[in-house]
Amino acid sequence: MAEPRENLQMEKIVSLCKRRGFVFQSSEIYGGINGFWDYGPLGAELKRNVKELWWQAMTRQRDDVAGLEATILMSPKIWEASGHVATFSDPMIDCKTCKGRFRADQTGEISCPQKPSQCVQQCHGEKTEARAFNLMFQTYVGPTATAEDLAYLRPETAQAIFAQFKNVMETARQKVPFGIAQVGKAFRNEVTPRNFIFRSREFEQMELEFFIKPDEVIEAIHGAVATPEIPGPDSPALEPQPNWGWQAWHQYWVEERVRFYQGIGLDRSTLGFHRQTPQELAHYARACTDILFKFPFSKKDEQGNVIGDELEGVAARSDFDLSQHQRFSGKPMGVFDDELRAAWAKLPKEKSDDLWRRYYENRKNYLLKSGVEAEPASRQATDDANGLAKGQYIPHVIEPSAGVDRLILALLANAYSETTETDDKGKSETRVTMRFHPRVAPIKVGVLPLLKNKPDIVKKALEIRDALRPWMNVFYDEAGSIGRRYARQDEAGTPFCVTIDFDTLGENPERLDTVTLRYRDDGRQERLKISELRDWLLARIR
Ligand code: GAP
Repeated sequence: MAEPRENLQMEKIVSLCKRRGFVFQSSEIYGGINGFWDYGPLGAELKRNVKELWWQAMTRQRDDVAGLEATILMSPKIWEASGHVATFSDPMIDCKTCKGRFRADQTGEISCPQKPSQCVQQCHGEKTEARAFNLMFQTYVGPTATAEDLAYLRPETAQAIFAQFKNVMETARQKVPFGIAQVGKAFRNEVTPRNFIFRSREFEQMELEFFIKPDEVIEAIHGAVATPEIPGPDSPALEPQPNWGWQAWHQYWVEERVRFYQGIGLDRSTLGFHRQTPQELAHYARACTDILFKFPFSKKDEQGNVIGDELEGVAARSDFDLSQHQRFSGKPMGVFDDELRAAWAKLPKEKSDDLWRRYYENRKNYLLKSGVEAEPASRQATDDANGLAKGQYIPHVIEPSAGVDRLILALLANAYSETTETDDKGKSETRVTMRFHPRVAPIKVGVLPLLKNKPDIVKKALEIRDALRPWMNVFYDEAGSIGRRYARQDEAGTPFCVTIDFDTLGENPERLDTVTLRYRDDGRQERLKISELRDWLLARIR
């Protein structure tokens, strides 16, 4: 039976990744280790570019976001407070025939890792009861390896941000609304890692926790909460407004993130959205919109449209996280807001009573859901609601959380294109071009002397390479025919190549000190002055 087209596409991508040094199987010489991947020379550059662009967009280009780089191992109490120790698990089943292990919610989709041909059919009738399998990797900190020394490899970067919320806010001299951004490794002992780097056991996240005022506080200060605008695909970016509540902020961040993806070459048509249903939502979340990418393995709906798989989740997490860390650590996580205190004093009693009651109900519900008994919950919620008059509240959070590796896979799948050419003798050759956006492309420019045995040409080419190097990743290549060298750069996804030839040296005096610039995507060539080259390239790769 012919292989489904989408799997062939994935096979081609995986094979190119190995052949050209984007991604290798971890520990390959020992047979590999399931769910772990290494990034080769081109992959490492691609990944750095992606993280750098995210960091630029989310922190350096904004006044309202500060960065953090926290440790991977943290106090295990963090994971108790966050709920990961108790609930971060997948339902797992074992196949009695082959002893293979599956996620109970995915048996319809995957074949047995040990004996695929035997067990695809047999497994469904022969499985054990589903049981919860905690996804956190455990280790010990200190020499005794006892229960007291137990620690976890972080399964998300977010919790360190909550734990350091106060330190960052104070040192960065920020006020709500503001965000804390972090990029870093996360680890999950996934029951069934799959689809190449889409679901692995060690991966990287780019997370922003954006802290906002609760809607009751906005209403107290501004009289009402703004209704979120739904911008059209081509409308300009929304300007944050002081009267935005959580819905407007949530909408804003979904749009910002889509703009980011568009800016690195993922067209809107390659993306999709999934608004999580109440049943899918985490118990603390008010809303979550998943931004999807249409991967080669993504499923189709009944009309045959590709649905897409999650690239990033944008969640409205309420005040759950800071509240949990406040309860578990005993350290206050609330903020003081002078504007609120002043506004509250001027509110008509009817209005302040209404806001007080709504805030109280939210706090009480949170406490009851977290297992606090009714009476202390009611007492604590009363204290919390009384804090409003003093200008105190616990911030709410909007969290855009993206996976670096999933984005890399999306960029690889989006960039991959093949052309088949047949020569005069009827021999055909298929060539791959990786059409990366110049911003993410691992190599920005190939510098190619026309002939390697002409010292003057080589000298000039090396001068150009050295002049560009401090500004961008340059690849110098003098081996083989110029056509072969272009083809190699096309496969690496290099958007531009410059060739240094006899005209560069003045054989044609009008072309002295110019180079041939070749565009990857259509092979077009033009002449450019060496003195203009750097700025010309910078304008296109940034
Ligand atoms: N702090 C929220 C959080 O971690 P998540 O939906 O579990 O939410 C966020 O993860 C993102 O991290 C996902 O959208 C995905 O891009 C990435 N991610 C999660 N698990 C992953 C895995 N096993 N392999 C690769 N990326 C993963």
